[in-house]
Amino acid sequence: MTGRDTSARTGSAGRLTGMAAVVTGGGSGIGRAVIARYVDEGANVSVLERDADRARLLTDAYGDRVVVTVGDVREPDAHATAVSAAVDHYGRVDVYVGNAGIYDFGRGLERMSPEQIIAGFSEIFEVNVLGYLLGARAAIGPLRESSGTIIFTVSSSGTFAGGGGSLYVASKHAVSGLVKQLAHELAPDIRVNGVAPGASRTQLSGVAALESDRRTLSGESDLLDVIARQLPLGFVSEPEDHAGLYVTLADARDSRFMTGVVIASDGGLGVGPPRAPVTPQSSPRPQAPGASSR
Ligand SMILES: NC(=O)c1ccc[n+]([C@@H]2O[C@H](COP(=O)([O-])OP(=O)(O)OC[C@H]3O[C@@H](n4cnc5c(N)ncnc54)[C@H](O)[C@@H]3O)[C@@H](O)[C@H]2O)c1
Repeated sequence: MTGRDTSARTGSAGRLTGMAAVVTGGGSGIGRAVIARYVDEGANVSVLERDADRARLLTDAYGDRVVVTVGDVREPDAHATAVSAAVDHYGRVDVYVGNAGIYDFGRGLERMSPEQIIAGFSEIFEVNVLGYLLGARAAIGPLRESSGTIIFTVSSSGTFAGGGGSLYVASKHAVSGLVKQLAHELAPDIRVNGVAPGASRTQLSGVAALESDRRTLSGESDLLDVIARQLPLGFVSEPEDHAGLYVTLADARDSRFMTGVVIASDGGLGVGPPRAPVTPQSSPRPQAPGASSR
């Protein structure tokens, strides 16, 4: 929220105390890490997730701090239900996080038939782009009331080539455009920003039309090792590495002058390849102050 409407926020424990968020694709990966962090910071969360098992695990983990709608982001009614659930349970929507997405595993144009291009394009754009548009549309009313904020999970593929195939990269460039256009349209009431993760060890899955929907990114350890070697910081991220950025963009005390911005969290892709060979390593965690470096 922008800080103009804080009347319904109560308590002082976390940075987001008293706020309510809607998060799509919160059953796994980055969305799940954002939910964990939002709850930790005092927010309640309405989740739209297509996987019923993941939805149940969320409810088990967070009880009444989370309400889950099982549904598909391609369906307008699913978004309406998730937004209504936030209003019914928590009385407001301060943050809408469009996050559910699928990946093409770098499928080259020449490796797709025209029929696969058409079907793959529809599937990936409907989930990655239309899903965000429909969700934002459903949330605008309550977001205006709270002077709230929209956050989209973009990707390094929203800026750079080579991290996916043409379908995925085009879909994420489209999301970069949405961040700018919606920031323009919805100002000054609603801020619209994005987070652009680079490679992250998640269950990010493929496209049914390309018969890759059973593949997951975390199952491709060779690919992740190659990516890690190409990054200046030398490791592939974990979903939790990005979650704090969604807190900062949700909390107007830290970001009320930001709209139309996409924050990169990508291991340094923008500064080029590593200067010296980097040995792939598991993500080094920040050390607590005073902790031993060994
Ligand atoms: N993992 C990465 O390396 C990476 C990098 C950059 C950007 N991203 C983006 O992050 C976002 C989250 O992906 P992730 O890596 O956490 O993957 P993930 O698969 O672990 O999580 C995505 C969640 O979205 C759900 N989902 C997928 N399609 C859906 C649909 N049609 N309707 C409702 N729910 C649906 C899945 O069931 C899953 O729980 C995506 O937009 C992805 O493009 C991921």
